[in-house]
Amino acid sequence: MGCVASKGVFVQSSQKELPDYVSPDDIRLVQESWLLVQSDMDNVGLIIFKRFFDLNKDLKRLFFTKLRGDSMNIDTIETADFNDEKLKMHGRIVMEALGAAVECLHDSDQLTVLLIGIGERHMMYGVKAEMVPRLWPAIVTTLEEQLGENFDNKTGKAWERVFHYIGSKVMQGISAWRPKK
Ligand code: HEM
Repeated sequence: MGCVASKGVFVQSSQKELPDYVSPDDIRLVQESWLLVQSDMDNVGLIIFKRFFDLNKDLKRLFFTKLRGDSMNIDTIETADFNDEKLKMHGRIVMEALGAAVECLHDSDQLTVLLIGIGERHMMYGVKAEMVPRLWPAIVTTLEEQLGENFDNKTGKAWERVFHYIGSKVMQGISAWRPKK
C-alpha cells in the first residue's frame, strides 16, 4: 500500500507521536517480523478476523452487511459464521493498512495522517474508540502462532507498542471526527 496519507486532516502537534511510543529497535523488530508474515497475508488476515469475531460476538453486527453469507440472518448473527471469501477480502484490506503502517514507521507525520483518516472513516462505520484495542488479542495470538520462535518476547513487546501507537491514532481520528459543513 505504501506511505499514502489521506487529505484534509489537521494533525495536532500537541499529541503524542511515534517516537513517544516506540524505539528504533522496536521499529526494526516489527518490520523484520512483518516481512515473514507478509507473503501469507490473506491467510493471516482470515485467522485474525475469525478469532476477532469469535472473541467479540457483540461486534459482528457492525460487519453484517459487508461480510454475511447468503444464509446469514441478522437474528442469528451472534452464532453464525461470516462468508469466508468475504472475510478474507476484508482481512486483506485491514492487513494492507497494517502493512502500510508498518512500512511507514520511519515516516511518522505521514503515518499519523493516514491513521487519523482511517479513524475518521471508522466513526462513520459506527466503530467506537473503545472497540479498537479489542483487535489486539486476535492480532497478537495469530502473530505468535504464525511466527513461532521468530516472535520472541522482545518482538512481542515491540508489536504491542506499535499497535498501541496505531490504535491510539485510529482512536484519535474516531474521537476527532465532526460532520463536514
Ligand atoms: C488498528 C485498528 C484498525 C485498522 C488499522 C482498521 C483498518 C480498516 C481498513 C483499512 C478498512 C477499509 C476501509 C477504510 O479504509 O476505511 C476498515 C474497514 C472497517 N473496519 Fe476497521 N480497522 C481497525 C479496527 C477496527 C475495529 C476495532 C472495528 C470494529 C470493531 C473495525 C470495523 C471496521 C468496519 C465496520 C469496516 C467497514 C467494513 C466495510 O464495510 O468495508 N475496524 N478497517
